[in-house]
Amino acid sequence: MSPTPDPSQTPNPAPAPAPSQTPNQTPNPAPSQTTGAGAFLPLLDPPVYVVTTGVGDTRAGCLVGFGSQCSIHPERFAVWLSHSNRTHRVAARATALAVHLLPPDDTGRALARLFGEDTGKEVDKFARVSWRPGPAGVPVLTDAAAWFAGRVVGRVEGGDHTAFLLDPLAGGRADPPPATTLALRDVAGLDAGHPA
Ligand SMILES: Cc1cc2nc3c(=O)[nH]c(=O)nc-3n(C[C@H](O)[C@H](O)[C@H](O)COP(=O)(O)O)c2cc1C
Repeated sequence: MSPTPDPSQTPNPAPAPAPSQTPNQTPNPAPSQTTGAGAFLPLLDPPVYVVTTGVGDTRAGCLVGFGSQCSIHPERFAVWLSHSNRTHRVAARATALAVHLLPPDDTGRALARLFGEDTGKEVDKFARVSWRPGPAGVPVLTDAAAWFAGRVVGRVEGGDHTAFLLDPLAGGRADPPPATTLALRDVAGLDAGHPA
């Protein structure tokens, strides 16, 4: 993972129109709001990730929009998991998580739908996808655009989500990698498996 460029040094394209509807675990104040966070949040279009984990024979994973690199030295990345998700319950006992970027095609959209709309309380998601055991036993999705596995080095409570602070162990990507990866607006029609 290389350092993220300073956004103040990059061009600032005009924001795309805000979606009229986003899933119930993503911040979506009314797009008409012009003050406070409601003026800002609907303009965001971050990547979406599938975060997976495993403890013994128990595997879990869900779609995540809340994630970011959060340190350069040491290299660290944080993902935020909702308290209501089964993935949070398993991740609370796990030593590592894997974070996957998805290709912006039918395969990526199908993975986003499965991991974002279904819950592992009812569906064995890993019986429906191609995966292999990765570092520290985390399931690695074969069809990801790119992935890394990280050791959990901290947890921070943020409200109804917990940040899992990850120290990267290993990673990989498709060859060739896609030019872009699936982002929040690409999956704006999905209904999250759990309310926040
Ligand atoms: C677009 C989108 C973004 C989401 N972002 C997050 C997120 O950042 N963190 C999270 O814990 N859940 C997020 N979710 C919700 C979970 O992916 C969803 O509730 C999932 O069904 C939980 O599965 P589980 O119970 O097997 O863990 C998001 C869902 C969608 C559709």
